Amino acid sequence: MITFNKDSRFFHLSTKNTSYVFGVYQMNHLIHLYWGAKIPEENVLTHYLSTQRMSFSARDDGFTAGSTDNLTMEYPTFGSTDLRSPAFDCVFADGSRVPQLRYYSHKIYDGKPKLEGLPATYCEEGDKVQTLEVELVDSVKDLHVFLNYSVFEDYDVITRSVRVENRGEKCKITTILSASVDLNSAHNYDFIHLDGAWAKERAVNRQPLFHGKQSVDSKRGATSAHHNCFVALSEHNANETMGEVYSMNLVYSGNFEAGCEVDSYDTGRMFIGINPFEFGWTLENGETFQSPEAVLVYSNKGLGAMSRIYHKLYRERLCRGKFRDIERYALINNWEATYMRFNEEKLLAIAEKAKDIGLDLFVLDDGWFGKRDVDNCSLGDWVVYKEKLPNGLSGLAQKLNALGLKFGLWVEPEMVSPNSDLYRAHPDWALQTKGRVPSTGRTQLVLDLSRKDVREFTINWLTEILSSANIEYIKWDMNRNMTEVGSLLLSDERQSEVYHRYILGLYEILETITSRFPNILFESCSGGGGRFDPGMLHYMPQTWTSDDSDAVERVYIQYGTSMCYPYSAMGAHVSACPNHQVRRTTPFEMRGHVALPGQFGFELDLSKLTDEEIEIAKQQVKEYKEFGAVFHRGDCYRLISPFESHISALNFVSEDKNTVILLRYRTVAKPNEPYAFVKLQGLEPDAIYVRRDNGARYSGAFLMNAGIPWEFASTEYQSAMTVFDKQ
Ligand code: DGJ
Repeated sequence: MITFNKDSRFFHLSTKNTSYVFGVYQMNHLIHLYWGAKIPEENVLTHYLSTQRMSFSARDDGFTAGSTDNLTMEYPTFGSTDLRSPAFDCVFADGSRVPQLRYYSHKIYDGKPKLEGLPATYCEEGDKVQTLEVELVDSVKDLHVFLNYSVFEDYDVITRSVRVENRGEKCKITTILSASVDLNSAHNYDFIHLDGAWAKERAVNRQPLFHGKQSVDSKRGATSAHHNCFVALSEHNANETMGEVYSMNLVYSGNFEAGCEVDSYDTGRMFIGINPFEFGWTLENGETFQSPEAVLVYSNKGLGAMSRIYHKLYRERLCRGKFRDIERYALINNWEATYMRFNEEKLLAIAEKAKDIGLDLFVLDDGWFGKRDVDNCSLGDWVVYKEKLPNGLSGLAQKLNALGLKFGLWVEPEMVSPNSDLYRAHPDWALQTKGRVPSTGRTQLVLDLSRKDVREFTINWLTEILSSANIEYIKWDMNRNMTEVGSLLLSDERQSEVYHRYILGLYEILETITSRFPNILFESCSGGGGRFDPGMLHYMPQTWTSDDSDAVERVYIQYGTSMCYPYSAMGAHVSACPNHQVRRTTPFEMRGHVALPGQFGFELDLSKLTDEEIEIAKQQVKEYKEFGAVFHRGDCYRLISPFESHISALNFVSEDKNTVILLRYRTVAKPNEPYAFVKLQGLEPDAIYVRRDNGARYSGAFLMNAGIPWEFASTEYQSAMTVFDKQ
């Protein structure tokens, strides 16, 4: 998987289908040589480096190969000869900021080490995984930078991260990207990213790269609904099934930047990492800093193949714990059913229906603690609201358990309401900048998780609540962006560390709580999908995809989300109509067809459903139980994009390849349409597939090449789920 050629001094990293090559070049500069489809190791790659370019750029004395400004660099710094955007930058004690990193040594070993304090992908016994650690040194300042590469051979993935050890005088890191790759011929590529806002997260955005720097980022303290920490460069004509795609995703839940800088030679410097904006980290002598991990995926079979690589890796080697490999709970959540206006009786009336239709779990959402009738108080006061729940959480849990349902609970541990006993006792526990009045968002402040006392408080009350009743699921919410970010306990110099220290603090809490309660299923949430990232998925295997539960909107949101996240990670519920976010009325069936491939549930007052709706709901739960494993462990193929057409489709192929499920959606009515055929993907051409609803027999080749007709009336909000069994 990883070799080092002593003569050429090239590192060759290979997965099943890809190669990644870089080398030690003149004066020990680390240069990037190749990333793409697999090539043999013996090939000479220096022809990739053009030394012919005429430029204004400087060069080191003794460097005969042009300038590093014109070469493809592996982990660039700024201030010497490469004047493009750096992957690493820092200010030294003397005020200078010209880090010069040169190759010093390397190690290659089997397996993959843990990242201290950070979420990351991992390997298990028997996995073909190797790690390369390259040590770069700034010998003048005695600063050591370790580039880590782990190769997941069978998964076709390379991960990267960076660790810094300061053995010299104090310095301040201002940029430390997790990955930077210089790609030739960037004029051939489009820039793909996922953007949105609350209730319309992760829309697929695609534009040709232009000369200059283009990037997406978050400065909101969390990954955010606005941009996701994912970026891809694809050939202009690449689509779901063909073309080259280079992509990066960051295993991190805080401020990030991801993008590409295209220079005058059409070299694209693709990068991802912690957002350098508002970031600074002081390293005293002997201290270290660890960057988050970037996951790099290359595909020459289009975006679909890229996504399936991410899906499998995240399902199997990012998510952890008991719930990783088993089918999870079909649930009812009371949020859109009651909001905060509930009592035990009302909840139990919904629960009875939930049991009746076959659900597993009842989730009590916001409003169960303090004096929480509206969202302007009580966060931080995690004591049961006795007027609503006179028998407490354990009383409610017992009644639910007696009905045959498990009990789940909503919490928002990172927040404090100014109107709370906690804030009155500890105003210093909120994030704040000295001399500035902190702004509220949803009338709440953010707790300063960089503080040990705040983390201890959080771990303690969570442990107490989770031990106080038979709680088997937690929805972990986070409902505002961070502002006036600062910590009263940190020195002035270290205020630029608060965003990252917050995330490290959050990860410490999550690690402690999720390992202390391994039998609880955790779902993360941030005003819907505001923190849908691989970092959170490491602790919690599913995320509430969006607060927008409208079936039509969800077709888009889930499609975009699937670019790099599996359906097994997407919380998806059937909600009431007219829909609470967009007022649209869609058929109950369509709501089910949209929610079924995700982690399925209901978000409505089941006691208000008609008999006919109850029967459909029962059928949906039955289908979820039967097909959940196909959606969650099978391969997903996006067939027609809702961003390109008012009809869209996807199919799933089960892990054992025996079951195929086709989902089709129509969002808009159109009269007199052309014939439309849906061509499936991922089948065996010579196998026979029998359609369950009418017994029709098709060869795989027929379904993939001729396809089956759209089959529906031209009215809006149509959907269908069609199951095929391989003979
Ligand atoms: C935002 C979440 O996304 C909703 O599902 C709900 O839990 C509310 N918060 C509760 O305040």
